[in-house]
Amino acid sequence: MIIIRNGVLITPEGRKETSLAVDGGRIVRIGPVEPGPGDQVYDAAGCYVYPGFIDGHTHLDLEVAGTVTADDFESGTRAAVCGGTTCVVDFATQYKGDTVLHALETWKKKAEGRSHANVAFHMAICDWNERTRTDLAALREAGVMSFKVYMAYDTALTDDQILEVLEAIKPLGGILGCHCENGALVTELQRQQLATGHTAPWAHPLSRPAEVEAEAINRFCYLGRLAGTPVNVVHLSTRLGLEEIRAARRRGQTVYVETCPQYLLLDESRYREPGFEGAKYVCSPPLRTKEDIEALRLAVLQGEIDTIATDHCSFRFRDQKQAGRDDFTKIPNGAPGIEHRLAVMMKIFGDDLDPAGYCRLMSENPAKLFGMYPRKGALLEGSDADICVWDPNVSWTIRAESMQQNVDYTPYEGMAVSGRPRFVFVNGTLAAKDGMPTEAMAGRYVRR
Ligand code: URP
Ligand code: ZN
Ligand code: ZN
Repeated sequence: MIIIRNGVLITPEGRKETSLAVDGGRIVRIGPVEPGPGDQVYDAAGCYVYPGFIDGHTHLDLEVAGTVTADDFESGTRAAVCGGTTCVVDFATQYKGDTVLHALETWKKKAEGRSHANVAFHMAICDWNERTRTDLAALREAGVMSFKVYMAYDTALTDDQILEVLEAIKPLGGILGCHCENGALVTELQRQQLATGHTAPWAHPLSRPAEVEAEAINRFCYLGRLAGTPVNVVHLSTRLGLEEIRAARRRGQTVYVETCPQYLLLDESRYREPGFEGAKYVCSPPLRTKEDIEALRLAVLQGEIDTIATDHCSFRFRDQKQAGRDDFTKIPNGAPGIEHRLAVMMKIFGDDLDPAGYCRLMSENPAKLFGMYPRKGALLEGSDADICVWDPNVSWTIRAESMQQNVDYTPYEGMAVSGRPRFVFVNGTLAAKDGMPTEAMAGRYVRR
């Protein structure tokens, strides 16, 4: 058995200063345990013991924008566990002409035998047709109950298609996430920026203003209302978008909301960094104003945000981001963050959020929303032994040179943070210690 003792457990019933025992990859006891011969004892003195954190929005090994993300499942999940995340929900992506079942098989192969963290998949539906509709039941059988559609990019579906997706997943108990940006407006605003000679990264946010997000969120909420299916607005970045969500909720609708640390910390002035440095922050939706950041922080504290994920989508600055040197629209969209979510969130919110609050936003709620609770997202007897022993007293500085993410920069470079995982267990196996990976590769596919 593995015994974790002397820590403060964050459980669904509240804090418990007691021990936790693990056997066969499961939590077998919460309460006093006497170690026997052969038991491995881990000291959690001064630490909080959390259920493993879940990152509900990652893009690993994704072919996009003529390249492939810098992190694959090996490096991405290695970085994840070192930061306290024991499960990622990545986006299996159906390319045009492909079936969703083939997309799932492709993504499972990418992750199989190469994952330090557990891996589940949302299905990004990018080719809606009769075959896709028919395959949804088999996809559900294969353990996929959450889906995503895009309103922008060449992966976008039309409104009527999104409505049909919402109707089709409803009897399956599915939930639909959406990339809410009006793609047609983005294309036109990009054209306008380029036509006036604005080719540098600072034109990126100008081509995707808050209205582009808010209008799309409004539309997505109404589509969800028409279908009567729960909707999940992913990577919310603006106050204007938040107001649309509030309005939909006031109408009585179930709308879930995700935001990401970058939208709670970094503002659009980053796009004005010297030279081409602004390209590091080119993600969509873009970084916003200080007022947006304030509004989103308040929404987190008021309980209006359900989950915090990273939208980790990494591209190297030295070569991949350079594709857009002369044209900001060609910069691959995305930024890294899978390793630093906990540390950055705790930097932002400190004691304004208590451990139960961090647990809810980054473990419990994603587990509930994405069909994994209480197997994951909770310290309970019988739950999977995905555990993060978090030491709040370690001070360190985020540096690209010493991180696990396989990319040559981090948007959080030089940031002094407090707190780091002392031990991270995945299915009862020690996956990381003091922020460094072990030899283990214990991640499994999570059928939901
Ligand atoms: O810029 C981003 N966020 N790229 C990843 C794909 C997406 O839109 O979520
Ligand atoms: Zn998106
Ligand atoms: Zn994304």
